[in-house]
Amino acid sequence: MASQRPILAHGGDDYRRFVNPLVAERVTLSGEPTGLMATDAGRLVREDGSAIEDLHGTQAFGHRHPAITRAVVEYLQSDAPNWFPSRVNPYAGTLARRLCERTGYTSAYFASSGTEAVEAAIKLARAATGRRRIIGLHGAYHGCTMGSCALMADSVYRDLFAPHLADVVRIERDDIAGLEQALADGAAAAVVVEPIQIEGGVRSLSPAFIAALCELTARHGTLLVADEVQTGMGRTGRLLASVGWPRRPDAITLGKHLGGGLMAISAMLTDMRWTRAAYGKNYETSEAHNCTFSGHAVACVAAMAALELLDDQQLQHIAAVGEDFRQRLRTLLAGSALVGEVRGDGLAIGLELRATDQPLLSFDHFGMTDLGDKPTTALLLCQRLYKRGYFPFVCGHDWRVVRMQPRFTLDHADLSKLAQTIADELAVLEAWL
Ligand SMILES: Cc1ncc(COP(=O)(O)O)c(C=O)c1O
Repeated sequence: MASQRPILAHGGDDYRRFVNPLVAERVTLSGEPTGLMATDAGRLVREDGSAIEDLHGTQAFGHRHPAITRAVVEYLQSDAPNWFPSRVNPYAGTLARRLCERTGYTSAYFASSGTEAVEAAIKLARAATGRRRIIGLHGAYHGCTMGSCALMADSVYRDLFAPHLADVVRIERDDIAGLEQALADGAAAAVVVEPIQIEGGVRSLSPAFIAALCELTARHGTLLVADEVQTGMGRTGRLLASVGWPRRPDAITLGKHLGGGLMAISAMLTDMRWTRAAYGKNYETSEAHNCTFSGHAVACVAAMAALELLDDQQLQHIAAVGEDFRQRLRTLLAGSALVGEVRGDGLAIGLELRATDQPLLSFDHFGMTDLGDKPTTALLLCQRLYKRGYFPFVCGHDWRVVRMQPRFTLDHADLSKLAQTIADELAVLEAWL
């Protein structure tokens, strides 16, 4: 629309000047598509009219899904209140009920970002149990506020901000003995895990570790928290990736596409007994954890519209096309010297590439000496895919892995085309080795 053109055309320069110059520079170097001027049928459209399929995942329903956009526009065109000074917010209430009806939980807390949902879970566990220790996993990504950051994998996302929250213990993924040891003295308030460590390289927890998590946390009165900011809301073909675990986690977190990609909203779902244990002691403690825009009405409207799209048929579609896509990739890439593994669940997909010692493909060669020891092959594949109209990225903690979270509305043919494009571009890269 013409009214948006001035910002779309010039706001990127302002971003470079007033927000973060190095991010803008990196985008230029990496070739990430810019000049995004419009959306069309779920895709992004560039100045020159070319379309980009966004594989980031936050736009799980496609950019500007019509039903979600319509719900938001209808709400804004009404005269309903947008903010409720008493905090008894009917939009938060209705969204909470619908999420609880779909998941079996009985209590919800809303915030804006994924990391705030994780903070809410950490604080719930501490307040409910009176214990301090929080156990997390190496390789984790839970967000960038100080509590989540304490549970983060060693990386720039964590290291720059020490000292961290006290009494945080991190163990290896799938280390059952380590888990037993960390829980043994009964001092742990919570264990916080991602069902699939997406930024850690799209790595699922093993069934044996999940069984141990469920059993040992119950035995020690420790809350089990599943961070489903990326894996929840249908990404794996189940409404929650933790559906089917031997016991339902005591709390889960949602974010990213919870607001249908249109609005920033996150949630922590738990059982009312934990909410009461944490915040039900008296009137003063009832609001001990809160935030101003918890359950922002517009965001709740978007989330309700998104949730409605996730019916059984949609979930089955995600599971089926995701499985088919991974199989297709495995077939097409069999024998490729660059490919390590294709893995994932539903439409959460990781393509692990092998690093190369070819000096011409090193960061040093491109003049980025501070990145000297990082693998380049996955980034080079991404760069080639940008030119072919796709927008994947590498995992935050593991640059060998291309992370793809296609939108839920793509079909077998769309994903076959993507698989073929990946195979073609990898063949070009292989020729450079
Ligand atoms: C599993 C997980 N939890 C939490 C977060 C933090 O979400 P946000 O960036 O919205 O704070 C992320 C972000 O990528 C995530 O992957």
